[in-house]
Amino acid sequence: MATRPSVWTVIVAAGSGTRFGGAKQYLELAGSRVVDRSVTVAAQVSDGVVVVVPGGDVEAESPRLAASAVVAGGSSRADSVRNGLAAVPRDADIICVHDAARPLAGPDVYERVISEVRSGAAGAVPVVPVTDTIRRVDGGVVDRNTLQAVQTPQAFRGDLLRAAHAGADDATDDAGLVEEAGHVVVAVEGHPRNIKITHPDDLAAAEAWLAP
Ligand code: CTP
Ligand code: MG
Repeated sequence: MATRPSVWTVIVAAGSGTRFGGAKQYLELAGSRVVDRSVTVAAQVSDGVVVVVPGGDVEAESPRLAASAVVAGGSSRADSVRNGLAAVPRDADIICVHDAARPLAGPDVYERVISEVRSGAAGAVPVVPVTDTIRRVDGGVVDRNTLQAVQTPQAFRGDLLRAAHAGADDATDDAGLVEEAGHVVVAVEGHPRNIKITHPDDLAAAEAWLAP
């Protein structure tokens, strides 16, 4: 790795927002769009940012997004990540992957995951404790002390992330793929407000937190 490893971020924004009821990534959140918030923070900590959007939006979004490249996504999140990776320069040392739908991730969370990879980890993911009691669908409570919720941005050594994605079909979690390939992914502290906008109430919560 170079003295100052290069960092690129892939922002996946190619989902259809089925649970939300529409393309949540383009909605306004306290004056700027969800996707633009995610891109702005990524740009502060990265040498380049690739944004992955639905195929039909590439033309309209390319001039709008403050990104190095805007590319078309695929039918699963993993496909979208792979399309984004293809637009990241081959010599990028560290690649972060972030859900556009987490517009409240701050530079501090990026710094924590990037710093672990700079120090030699294959990958790093932000986690937060699980606060709800978790019950299995088929009965029985799971000890929540054995669980943690995983957020994005996640950071990886570029070569290992590319190798893990080559040959994998679907995966909701990039860290899982890198671990399946036999590498150690470390957990760092996430942020309780780094929520994923999934349902309309999540957008309302984010609005409230951002209110002056
Ligand atoms: N995503 C993507 N390409 C896909 C599916 C998801 O780039 N084919 C992105 C979404 O845009 C989002 C992130 O992955 O930023 C996390 O996905 P999720 O929250 O599940 O968003 P959607 O897939 O859009 O929502 P839903 O699952 O409710 O349809
Ligand atoms: Mg989804």
